[in-house]
Amino acid sequence: MSQLNGTIPQETVKTVTPAIDKTKKPKVTKLPELFLDGGSGRTKSYLEKISGSYQSVVRIFPKGHELPVGFLGVFKVGENGYAVGDSALSLAGGKLEEGYANDNKIKLLPIWIIGALTTHPNFLFKQAKKSKAEVVEIELKLSLLSLSSHRKKEIEKAISDINFEFDERKFKVKVSDYTIYPEGYGAACAAKQFIKAAKGKDVKFHVLDLGSGTFTHTPYSNLNGVPRASNQNSVSGAGVMSICEFFAKESAKGDTGGNIYHFSRLKEALESSRVINGEYLAEIILGDSSRELGDRLRSGLESWSREIIGVRELLRDVKQLLRKNERIFLTGGGFKVEAIRHFVTEYLNSELVTVLDNPEDVNITGIR
Ligand SMILES: Nc1ncnc2c1ncn2[C@@H]1O[C@H](COP(=O)(O)OP(=O)(O)OP(=O)(O)O)[C@@H](O)[C@H]1O
Ligand SMILES: [Mg+2]
Repeated sequence: MSQLNGTIPQETVKTVTPAIDKTKKPKVTKLPELFLDGGSGRTKSYLEKISGSYQSVVRIFPKGHELPVGFLGVFKVGENGYAVGDSALSLAGGKLEEGYANDNKIKLLPIWIIGALTTHPNFLFKQAKKSKAEVVEIELKLSLLSLSSHRKKEIEKAISDINFEFDERKFKVKVSDYTIYPEGYGAACAAKQFIKAAKGKDVKFHVLDLGSGTFTHTPYSNLNGVPRASNQNSVSGAGVMSICEFFAKESAKGDTGGNIYHFSRLKEALESSRVINGEYLAEIILGDSSRELGDRLRSGLESWSREIIGVRELLRDVKQLLRKNERIFLTGGGFKVEAIRHFVTEYLNSELVTVLDNPEDVNITGIR
């Protein structure tokens, strides 16, 4: 369980005006602002009205390894080569690291930042065109989601020296401001908008974020200005990956007709699951045949909600809050999955539960 206390945004270096502040500002040249949510499953970013995401995996190549030119998300830092997202998965050699691994969220932070810039390189190309220098210097504001503000020193170190080579040009990123928002902050902004549009007077509301690795409950105070978080409760290891593990366990029970269900195939079946008239459908593709595993998915979801103590308690806490008439907003890629969305909303069974639009990226796009 992790705690995140105090007011949000709370880690502002130099005074920055929060992005949601609509008060008039004197005209100054605005620095480009990169929003980054380096999730354990996907890294999401938003820069100059463009949002992007890639799987949080990186392949690290040793000195001298020949890198393909013109690949998105492929770059060099010092002598080493790097490839993120799809490029990391499609290239061979080197060493693969995943966002899941312990502490990779901070260790790999500079890589995820460069990854965001090089997977949507228009911004880099524009800067490179403007610059005649050998090293293209870029000054940025950085807004970080999904990192604990308790680790400010490590974060500052990680972003203090970002140099890389992409498409045969050298870049240097100078982060002149950074802000840490709690995970799910963009969702909280979207929730606030929702309440406003419904002419609600809710003083408190809650965000449940189901990511790849983590299931998090954050209570918010709906004050004037920005939503403020308190007492964040995260259940690590309780996200979509754990649901998929329970699903795999259920699917392997009994006679599988000699079939071995590969985890990646089960994950695909989970992600494309449907619920029709209360019946769960999850089809796994096996060579030239397929098999329906919807009932196994349903029992997997039941086990997930019962057997992980943190999940069981979190869901019970939420039921209690609903009795107190407090609204719950669901966000995170997990709620993009129809079976998961259906299971959790049915379990909570209340009109006060809302799945936010585009739950897979509202955590980042909602900030605007
Ligand atoms: N368009 C989609 N269709 C189906 N499933 C999706 C979609 N987008 C995301 N997901 C599911 O959501 C998961 C990722 O969610 P999200 O991006 O919120 O996690 P994360 O932020 O990387 O993880 P964490 O918050 O735990 O660090 C994926 O593993 C996938 O299963
Ligand atoms: Mg997340």
